[in-house]
Order: sequence, then C-alpha cells, then structure tokens
Amino acid sequence: MRKTVTLLAGFCLLLASCSDRQVIIDDFESGNLDKWTIEGNAFPMTPKSVSDHPGISGVEGGFFAGSDCEGESVMSGSGQMTSVPFTVSRDYVNFLLGGTSDRFGSRFVTVELLVDGEPVLATHPRSSSEEVLEWCSWDVREYKGRSASVRVKVDPVTMRYPLSSKSVIIDQVMQSNRKMGTFNDLLSMPVKVTDDWLLIPSSNSGRGSSLSILCDGENILGGAQNINLAEGTADYNIPVNVSAYKGKTIELRLTSVDDGDLTVTGLTQGSDRGIDYDEPYRQVYHFTPDFGWTNDPNGMVYYDGEYHLAYQANPYGTKHSNMHWGNAVSTDLVHWQDLPFIIAPDGLGSIFSGSAVVDTDNTAGFGKNAIIGMYTSASRTQKQSIAYSTDRGRTYTKYEGNPVLSDDEKQPNFRDPKVIRYGDGWVVCVAAGDVIAFYGSDNLKDWTKLSEFGKGIGSHAAVWECPDLLKFDYNGREKWVLIVNINPGGPNGGSVAQYFIGSFDGRTFKADDLPYPLWIDEGTDNYAGVTFSNTGDRHIFLGWMSNWLYSNMVPTINFRNSMTLARDLSLKDNGRHLFLASVPSPEIYAARGEAREVEVPHLNGGFSVDSILPDNKGAYEIDFTIKPGKDDRLTFKLMNGKGEEMVYTFDFKALTLNLDRSRSGIVDFYRGFAKTDILTHLVRRDSYPVQVFVDRQSIEVFVGDGDLTFTNCMFPTEVYNRLELSSGDCSVSDMKIFEIK
Ligand code: FRU
Repeated sequence: MRKTVTLLAGFCLLLASCSDRQVIIDDFESGNLDKWTIEGNAFPMTPKSVSDHPGISGVEGGFFAGSDCEGESVMSGSGQMTSVPFTVSRDYVNFLLGGTSDRFGSRFVTVELLVDGEPVLATHPRSSSEEVLEWCSWDVREYKGRSASVRVKVDPVTMRYPLSSKSVIIDQVMQSNRKMGTFNDLLSMPVKVTDDWLLIPSSNSGRGSSLSILCDGENILGGAQNINLAEGTADYNIPVNVSAYKGKTIELRLTSVDDGDLTVTGLTQGSDRGIDYDEPYRQVYHFTPDFGWTNDPNGMVYYDGEYHLAYQANPYGTKHSNMHWGNAVSTDLVHWQDLPFIIAPDGLGSIFSGSAVVDTDNTAGFGKNAIIGMYTSASRTQKQSIAYSTDRGRTYTKYEGNPVLSDDEKQPNFRDPKVIRYGDGWVVCVAAGDVIAFYGSDNLKDWTKLSEFGKGIGSHAAVWECPDLLKFDYNGREKWVLIVNINPGGPNGGSVAQYFIGSFDGRTFKADDLPYPLWIDEGTDNYAGVTFSNTGDRHIFLGWMSNWLYSNMVPTINFRNSMTLARDLSLKDNGRHLFLASVPSPEIYAARGEAREVEVPHLNGGFSVDSILPDNKGAYEIDFTIKPGKDDRLTFKLMNGKGEEMVYTFDFKALTLNLDRSRSGIVDFYRGFAKTDILTHLVRRDSYPVQVFVDRQSIEVFVGDGDLTFTNCMFPTEVYNRLELSSGDCSVSDMKIFEIK
C-alpha cells in the first residue's frame, strides 16, 4: 500500500514537472541579443557578463541584459529592446528584474508585455538596491494562444524630474506554469462571497495600490480606487458592502501587491463593518463618517423633515482620495445617520464639493420636488455636473448631459457650485481661480455667465473655494452675504472662511465698504462651511471641523475629521459695522442632559471644578457669563489628570481671546498644531455670555450671542474633566454644565 502511494506521488510529480516545463524566451547565455530588436541608444548590442559587473547579485548564469545609462541624469539615453514574438503557452511570464530604485527614475524604465503588438501589462523595477535582481511574474492566462513579446523600455527623463537616475537589468525571461515572483503588478483573486462585508486590511503608511472588484464582468466599485496596502500590520479594514453578491464569486484586483502582504493574506468577510465605532476621538454629537475620510459638507438641503448632508468622502481609506459624495441624514441637526454613498467618481473625474436644491417646480424635468445636486467633476480640468434624487436623497442618478457648466477660460480651479433660487430661476456661484463667478439658469442644465466678484477685495492669499450666497432681512432692508472659503491664508494658519456683506440684484454682487477680510470663525478648524438650502428665512451653517494643514494626519483610526455644530447665521451690528453672527442652532439644546448649576464665588484669584461630570464621556456644554472687572483678563482652562489642557485667555482691554493648545494632548502629528497663540477678537460689551461645546476632539466657543465663534480641535489622551477659572476681579455667574447625548 505504502509503495502504491509513493509511486502515485512520483507519477504526479512527473506529470506536474512536464506540464510546468519552462519555455525560455531568453536567458542571455548565448552571449548575443539575436532574439531582440534594439532601438535607441539605451542598450548595448550584446548582453553583459557577470564577471565585468561583480556588484550585481541575483543573475542566473554568466550573462544578463541591461541598459547603458546607469545613474544617468540627463535627458539623453533612451531606447528599447523587444523580444521576438512567442505564443503564450504557460500561465506566467517570469523574469528577473533590477535597476533604478529611485521613485521618480523608475517611472522612466518599464518592462511591458505586448500582446498582438499592444502593451497589456507593465512593470517598473522596484528593488531596494539597483544592483539586485528580483523575480517578477505576470499572470498571462487570459492571453494563452496569442502572440506576445516582451519590451524593455528606457524613456527620456522629462523636464519635471531632470535629476532622476534610470537603468534596467534583466535576466531569465521565460514562461512557466509556476509563478516565480511574489510581487504582482496586478493580482487577481477570486473571492466567494459568503457574508455582507468584505474587509480589506489597510495601513496608512502602506504602499499605494489600486483596487477594483468585478462581478460578472461589471466593476462593482464603479472604477479603480486608490488604497494603501497593509504590508505587515493593518491600521483598519476597508469595509466594502458585497451583500448583493452573496453566493457569487467576485474577482478582487489589486495592483503593486506582494503575495505576502496582509491585504492579501488577511482578507476576511463579516456581517458588519467590524469597526470599533466608539474609538477615543469619535464624537458624540457631531457628524463623523462611520468609516473613512471626510472633508467639506456638500449637498446640504432640508426636505420633508430631514436635513441632508452629503459630504466629501473617501470610502476606501482615511486620507483625501477617491472623492465621492457620502450621505447622511438627520431630523434634528445633531444626530446623523450615515448612509451608503450617493455619487461615485466616473469618466468625468472625482466628485468634488457642491450643493443641492429641491426643484419644487420641476424646472429640470427630473420630477416635481426632485432633489438636485450640483457638484464639481474634477480631473485635469474642473467642470460642474448635476445628479438628481427622487427617493428622498437615498440614491442619485447622474444627468446624462453632464457636465452642465465648463469654464470658457479653462482655468484649473473652477469648482464648488452653490445653487440658490432667485426669482423664477436659479443662480449658481462657482469659485473660479481667486474670484467668484455667477451664472444663471432656468433649468439647472443650461447656464449663462452673469458676472464675477472679488478682484482686489478681501483676502487673496490662495485660490477661493466653496462659496455661498445668502439673503438676509436686516431691519427691513435686504442685505446679501457672500461666503468665500480660502486655503491657506487663515489668520491662525491654513484654512479659513471669509465673507463679504453687500447687495445682489440677481446678476451682480456688490460689496459694502467694510474692513475686509472679515472671518466667520478665526479658530483653526472651521472650513468649507456653507448653508442648507430650502430652510426658508433660516440660514443654517455647517463647516468642516478640520484644517488642510493637518487633516490627513490627525490621530483617529477608522475615520478622519468631522463637521461643526450647526449654527444659525444672522446679521448684527458691532457698533462699527454689520457683521455675520453665528449662534448654535437651537436644536442642540434638546440633546442636553440635566443642568448642573455651579455657584462661582468671587474669583479673587482662582476657582476650579474638579469633576465636570461624574461619568464624563467627553461630550458636554459649559455656559457662563463673564463680567469684566478692573483686572481685564480671565483665564479659562479645561484639563485632564495627565496635565493636558486647553487654555483660553480673555483680554477685555485688548478685546481678544487667545487659545494655547500646545499641551492639549497628542500634538506631534503636525509640527504647527501645538500653537500657543490662536487668537480671535471680541466685541466690546458690559458682560459676555459664553457657551463652550466640548466633544471628544473639538471645542467650539461661542461668545456674546453670536459676536464670536471659535472652533478648534484637540486630541487629549484622557477626557478633560476639570475646569479652572482665574482672574483678579472679573466675575463669573450663571455657570451651568450639561452632558450632551
Ligand atoms: C475645499 C476643497 C474644495 C474641493 C474639495 C475637494 O476643502 O478643496 O474646493 O471641491 O475640497 O475635496
């Protein structure tokens, strides 16, 4: 019996080795390049010998082929060698490859598989040392029986990377049924779907790869998505909903991946996203995406009892990439339900910021009360597109006539359309370079340019982004406010929103003569804010609570970034001129727990509350009123037991409020985060009502019933549960603390 098994095993081995017989395309041991056509001046006419190049390791035999332009830093030295055609008869084409390891240089060196003369697969050298050859393998099963050749190309270095070095060495070009390398330019993995979610391990510092998933020939992700591979360990799993494909075998395709990467070996499935939702900086009463990256709020519209918040989303990672419109709804502006994303990138580009309106009169023909979103299709140029929803914002259909608005001047920055109803028609404001362009339309599809605003006024420290145009009734007078976001250029660094007050006649915005730039919020973390449409006379504003300086680096795990509290905007007078006032939208008060009233004695030095809340989850509001005394300064600190603190200093003489967040917790993810001098400005008053909203990674301070809002993020390693007040003789009264749920 034993003998039979041994014999059988031997027979199987024999069979396997017969079917695995290699077909050598060229191992260069002949000492000539007769099987190759050489063009250009990058390659010599003969192979190189190991004895002449003792530093090169990994060559099999005595010869290999290689370019002559090692270390070259000029634009000359280019060419190619192309093998004689062969018929694809095995599963893999394998070869040993080395050469330029510098990231830019390797772009100029490519090994390609040509099938019927057309390049179908390509590889760049990736060895960590340019003198080490590594096996590379192409899966060529789909080309069996077809005529192919291998082409090794060295391209001229372009002006953009003039100092790149480039070289290539290659050996043992052959076909076999065995895959010799573990690295795949393109890996195709069949996956039988057994559960609702595919969980793909990813690491923020992992190699970039592009992911596509095919089922029955259809790409279910709508295209290839950039992801970061988990090479050794994972930071999180990318959750992909595959519930619609249960029981089927889907094909997962990844580029630039090694067989040993955890993304490949650690792929799992689950009945949910398997996310630790309640991670330390997950906010309680602000919008955060369940998974992935967010920046600007988009498509904000109120309809049929729900506030809709689309948002700039990367559903495949926690950095800015693969921009989609995510989708969330809320009935109270405080608690948000994150829904499947609504608009995915397409041939016109990524989906950048924009707005949404309710088409009550069916002007666009998509149906009465269709919600219509207008967004930027961003690729090499930026154009505006529309999409509509007839199911209460749950799904959107792109208009087949997209794009609907392109820039005649073809400038690279032309984006973030904000549509408003004006009379019987529509007006859209678009950020165009560093001005705002206005266009008019009757049907949201055909647009005519009306005017431009912005030359020579306000801050032009960078291109303008994310505009909004709002009509106010100020004591019976019609006033208009134009919001313009700008990044960088903020008074405290990075991203900020400025605004202009003036008039708008349906065509042209004219600014009043005011001391511009005026900022909505001088805090570091309130950007790209705009308002909901379809809210009648209310102007409800929501911003992105982050800053482009560090938003890609903040220390959260499964998500990055959040939105501000909703704020109601109005016009107020500060004694010198009108300004745009922000107060928390009153809906937040319904989320308060019971009030804890704190009697603050005459300060006379200091006062502290040792335990802000007994079971402090990091989400609370503290209200109080300050009456300045002879001493003009008051310091308010929030602290934890680890010596971490946010320190606010009011100076009622200089009319400033300063934040020192240098010891606020984790600050080292970005050099400039630990600032001591984040400064904003007060309006003179006899007393100052203050509201402080704390939520795990953010503090929003409102002073003087709308005079000032100051939004800043922080990452304490423990909840702040102690507050300290210190001042000579400013008095503090009416202190109340509420948990917010
Ligand atoms: C502002 C912004 C917009 C753009 C979007 C891209 O933060 O740069 O101008 O549409 O982000 O995500």
